[in-house]
Amino acid sequence: MAQRPRRLLLRLAALCIALLPLVIAGCTLREYPQSSLNPQSDYASAIQSLLEKLVFWVVVIFVIVEGLLVYTVIRFRARPGAPDPKPVHGNTALEIGWTIAPALILAFVAVPTVLTIWKTQGAPPPGALQVRVVGHQWWWEFQYPELGITTGSEMHVPLHRAIAVNIESADVIHSFWFPAIGGKRDAVPGHVNHMWFTPDSVGTFPGQCAELCGVSHANMRMKLFVEPPDAFEAWAAQQKKPPAEPDTSTLAGHGRALFAQSACIGCHTIDGISAGIIGPNLTHIGSRTSIAGSMFPNDAPHLAKWIAQPDKEKPGTLMLNLGLPPDQVDALVAYLQSLK
Ligand code: CUA
Repeated sequence: MAQRPRRLLLRLAALCIALLPLVIAGCTLREYPQSSLNPQSDYASAIQSLLEKLVFWVVVIFVIVEGLLVYTVIRFRARPGAPDPKPVHGNTALEIGWTIAPALILAFVAVPTVLTIWKTQGAPPPGALQVRVVGHQWWWEFQYPELGITTGSEMHVPLHRAIAVNIESADVIHSFWFPAIGGKRDAVPGHVNHMWFTPDSVGTFPGQCAELCGVSHANMRMKLFVEPPDAFEAWAAQQKKPPAEPDTSTLAGHGRALFAQSACIGCHTIDGISAGIIGPNLTHIGSRTSIAGSMFPNDAPHLAKWIAQPDKEKPGTLMLNLGLPPDQVDALVAYLQSLK
């Protein structure tokens, strides 16, 4: 072999080795919690299997085309004194070949794509659990009309049961997205979008608004808890209970009285006390793991900071800074934590 092609081959090999870390990184991406390469439902698995099919064909085509290109560049490169190559214009066999081949390739891409669209966009199976999802700036509301439950930022579903999600918005366009569960679906004001999925593994999966919706778009997060059916039933039974009523002599009891007299009631619902719908329903806020659109963990220090200065904690939030003194904040925190 001549000196130049060998050098070219060496360079190609070096390029392949340089690209190897990207391939390895692609594999480890599955480990990230928000990875969409880590399917945990029938919907996400259908998309994953489509992606793998398409990537397979793309790789085959890439290798063939680039292989032919590299071969041609080396084999037919200009040499001193070489004659001009013979043109292939008017070669009927070649022209038929390069018309049929792309048509077949497109069929290989189109058929599985359309089948996956039919599979994932159809009506949910009968008996699916209905969940109404409402996007707000900047948190998610989850209502279970059949169960009479309303919660915020954290969605609970039973394992192996179809979940029919009906998605709306209270203000601007958001996009509902749990990467482990399936594709994005927009939450549009005045319109209901639908999707359904059947979760196939127990776990907690993070989600995120996927449509730029204002200054705290990045802070519009959520969590999905996929639980065995009995654990889901226990969660639902707890959520249906009336809110805790702490003894009036306790700090939490003091907090309850404060809540009932404060501006909190204008925006938040606690069953039997208030009926605000601007902010999340707090009837069982103490049972949640996160607050403020899943931005902070639900513990006393974060809750206190959130109540004392929401405007500093979350840019643009509609939650008002009521200028409460620390003792009142502590009482409200104790009360909210009692609402298990
Ligand atoms: Cu809601 Cu971005």
